[in-house]
Amino acid sequence: MTPEIANHIRGMEVAGKMAAETLKYAEPYIKAGITTNEIDKIVHDYILSRGAIPAPLNYHGFPKSVCTSVNEIICHGVPDSTVLKDGDIMNLDVTVIYNGFHGDTSRTYFVGDVSDKARDITDCAEKAMLKGIDEVRTGATTGDIGFAINKFVTRRGYYVVHEIGGHGIGTTFHQDPFVPSYGKKGKGDKLKKWTCITVEPMINETDKPILEYDIPGSSIKWYTTGDKTLTAQFEHTVLITDEGAQILTIC
Ligand code: MF3
Ligand code: CO
Ligand code: CO
Repeated sequence: MTPEIANHIRGMEVAGKMAAETLKYAEPYIKAGITTNEIDKIVHDYILSRGAIPAPLNYHGFPKSVCTSVNEIICHGVPDSTVLKDGDIMNLDVTVIYNGFHGDTSRTYFVGDVSDKARDITDCAEKAMLKGIDEVRTGATTGDIGFAINKFVTRRGYYVVHEIGGHGIGTTFHQDPFVPSYGKKGKGDKLKKWTCITVEPMINETDKPILEYDIPGSSIKWYTTGDKTLTAQFEHTVLITDEGAQILTIC
């Protein structure tokens, strides 16, 4: 391993851990009565206090520091005056830049008591992410990851989102390869040793085509399910090694 690669790995490990610590810090605030704007401010201030930068802020014009995707919002939910209420589920997606390296992670949280359906789809999304991560090793393909995710999700009676997925990550936020939540074994891009990707499947209750919405002043879009039924997502940033994935966004 060259010193440049060792430096890159160390940088990604530190940024990944900080992203995970940020999610953990925010978790107790995700309660009925708080607004998603308040969560944005809490996360923004925490990230700055750690000497890091919230990657979403001003990214292609995105106006906030985190994404808060509630109930039928698939991803890129923009924090606003929405008040969380008992029974909601919310994906909080945090990306930090520390020392030039990106750590990107998200979880779906329960607000108070949620329905059995909400619990089940959230459980499915987390396990689907882990199934995808299980496929990661040097020389495996993005199709291997997508195939494993889609097989698991289909058997559970849910539907993967095709249009949006994981991505390469490093000193930039989004890079090649695209990491789909569907695919064929052996197809797609080969995973390269010591590079990093995210695995971030989005799981819907139905197969109704998703809806896309503009964000004023931004080229980023946000998405909901076609029929406003539930959706859930989890995300980790992982390092590709010969032995498998090293999950970076843990603490
Ligand atoms: N964190 C998201 C992802 O997992 C991207 C958010 S881009 C933003 O790739 F502009 F919406 F913040
Ligand atoms: Co991501
Ligand atoms: Co993310």
